Amino acid sequence: YGDIPPLKSVTPYPLGVATSATKVSDPAWSALAARQFSRLTAEWEMKMEYVLQADGSLKLDRADKMVAFARRNGMTVHGHTLIWYAQDGEYFQKLSAKPDAFLNAYVDYIAGVMGRYKGVIPSWDVVNEPIWNDGRGLRPCLWQKVLGDDYIGLALEAAHRADPQALLFINDYNLELTPKKRATFLKLIETLLKNGAPLHGIGTQTHIDAGITPGLIRSAIADIASLGLKVHISELDISLREDHPTPVAQPRIDQVRTLNELLEAYQDVPANQRYGLTMWALRDSDSWLNTPQGGKSLIPDEPVLFDRLGRPKPLAQAFV
Ligand code: G3I
Repeated sequence: YGDIPPLKSVTPYPLGVATSATKVSDPAWSALAARQFSRLTAEWEMKMEYVLQADGSLKLDRADKMVAFARRNGMTVHGHTLIWYAQDGEYFQKLSAKPDAFLNAYVDYIAGVMGRYKGVIPSWDVVNEPIWNDGRGLRPCLWQKVLGDDYIGLALEAAHRADPQALLFINDYNLELTPKKRATFLKLIETLLKNGAPLHGIGTQTHIDAGITPGLIRSAIADIASLGLKVHISELDISLREDHPTPVAQPRIDQVRTLNELLEAYQDVPANQRYGLTMWALRDSDSWLNTPQGGKSLIPDEPVLFDRLGRPKPLAQAFV
């Protein structure tokens, strides 16, 4: 694929890819990623489930590896993610009966993780997926149970104190597929901004089906951008899994059409708001969708940009 310019040289904003400590140690993966992308997001190893030990200590060995790889290769890192309903850890569960101690530990966790990369990691998903899938409101979680709805504002304040230069994001999914969820999510963002929360960006994960109804992506991007914050397409894959709600008739054509709708819509976002686009995998074999647990495994023309041998997929040419 020598004749195709590196993807990062053709997009007018940073192009990122999800990674792990194992992947950055894999010569094939790392050569391809470093050539094509300028930003990394840790798929798992900077999350609480990996980082926070039962005694409250932080395990950042693999985060260090990914950050070191990025710095060696002139790439940057987007921090993912500090506070998530899906992962609260034994340490916090044990503290849940003591709200003051819980809050101190909450702030300390954020300060501990972000503090280690202060001035190195320029942006963080401070809170991930706070809204119910159907958009009815905030997802219940341990954080909300102990700290109340303002667990989000408290996390943003703690993050801002930990690294005042860092850009702070809130990240969620299905903001294109479920307009009600998007409306509730944007209402939350507006309320946080009105209350003076240090919030700089929105991550719209964009895990989409190739057969998504045309137009949904465009209206979502415009809606999200209308708040004036940075907009990060944070976890893009364009799935062809047959078990998804929108079975795909012409996989490759739909996949490229959907990608083009996204790229065109994102191009219409003011340049200073385009934080970048991150693919949630590099090759087919790297994708979280490419597993037996992930429903029927992906059929040919899979959602990411390179095949198992690192050759660009037809999808990749949609960028150039
Ligand atoms: O590799 C370890 C293994 O050593 C260990 O024994 C085992 C114990 O559970 O865990 C293994 O790690 C797995 C990890 O992926 C790396 O493969 C974790 O079990 C597994 O839970 C983890 O899944 C990640 C998932 O988030 C949960 O953190 C996926 O890779 C990752 O793609 C997915 O990413 C999420 C975003 O963070 C948020 N948006 C949705 C997206 C897809 O679900």
